Amino acid sequence: MMRGKTFVATAPSNIALIKYMGKNPGEVNQATNASISYTLPHLITQVSLTVTDSKDVQWQPDLSFSTPIQLSESGQKKFLRHWERCCQRLAPRFDNLQFSNLHKGVLITSGNNFPSDCGLASSASSFAALTLAAHKMFQALEVLDREWTLTELAQLSREGSGSSCRSFFEPWVFWSGNEVRRIECPSSEWGQLLHTVVIVDEKKKKVSSSEAHQRVLTSALFEGRVARAELRASHLENLLKKSITIDGDFSLQRIWNRIFEIAWSEFWDMHALFETSSPPFYYLTPKSLVTLRYLQEEWEKSGDGPLITMDAGPNVHLLYRSDQRELRNKQRAHLRSLDLLTLSEDRND
Ligand code: DP6
Repeated sequence: MMRGKTFVATAPSNIALIKYMGKNPGEVNQATNASISYTLPHLITQVSLTVTDSKDVQWQPDLSFSTPIQLSESGQKKFLRHWERCCQRLAPRFDNLQFSNLHKGVLITSGNNFPSDCGLASSASSFAALTLAAHKMFQALEVLDREWTLTELAQLSREGSGSSCRSFFEPWVFWSGNEVRRIECPSSEWGQLLHTVVIVDEKKKKVSSSEAHQRVLTSALFEGRVARAELRASHLENLLKKSITIDGDFSLQRIWNRIFEIAWSEFWDMHALFETSSPPFYYLTPKSLVTLRYLQEEWEKSGDGPLITMDAGPNVHLLYRSDQRELRNKQRAHLRSLDLLTLSEDRND
């Protein structure tokens, strides 16, 4: 049974520009609307699975990472429940062993290559990595029930945590219902974006995104939400699929400005749902607003800037084009002067 052998997989995080917010009742993490994300290959979770002699299936933080993950009790339960799901679906033969005398325990460890206390969600990368590690392990043990495609694994991962299904592809990923796929962009420009997150608050959030999915359904603004998100998703996908022209409607700058507008309206739409739920809740802090206003003024002054979005948290995510590296350095320096931390693929300030 390859006791003691460890199977390791990694998966990246992703940032949604069109948000998965709201689930269809009665289905496992099935989004009410299409979402589109950009994969963040520099923010990685690594999951290791070791077959042990003990009877238990246990989770532990991977201590080889400098800032070990802290999972709440409910977070651990959700993660272990997904391990069970992977066993049942990927390898029913292995799953049966778990109930016989031949039962072999498994130690699951996970670690992020980014600080776990920086307020960045790691559920997308964690669940994707766990699904991939389970698949790798069952393949090596020759107990996989059949061949699984990446799309099927993404769907399985979605049942653990919805946004994780988008972490199986890159750079731009579309998810709607049972469809998870990479968006084919003719221009290489869209695959080379630079990511920076402005870390406004490092504390754990009071309302988890799983709870937010339930609560937004109570907002009066939820009416029309699905249509608004679907329309933005289709606009964004169309823009990403355009061939960039030197000038005119499909020049890089015009497309960029339109993507900025879509992303800006979309995150405010989601945060407006939070603020108008019953009972209302919020993630925006005064520091989030300082960040947003600064970047908004910069956009107004120069007619250019980063794409801006926020998840269900106070941090502000920025995506810059590869030719905006200097602009990013300048804006990071300004944010630092306001006592705001930033995390980017090249450097942390
Ligand atoms: C605001 O995937 O964390 O980040 O399916 O309950 O695990 P569960 O929710 P989760 O929701 C992510 C919500 C979001 C928007 C997004 O990533 O699309």
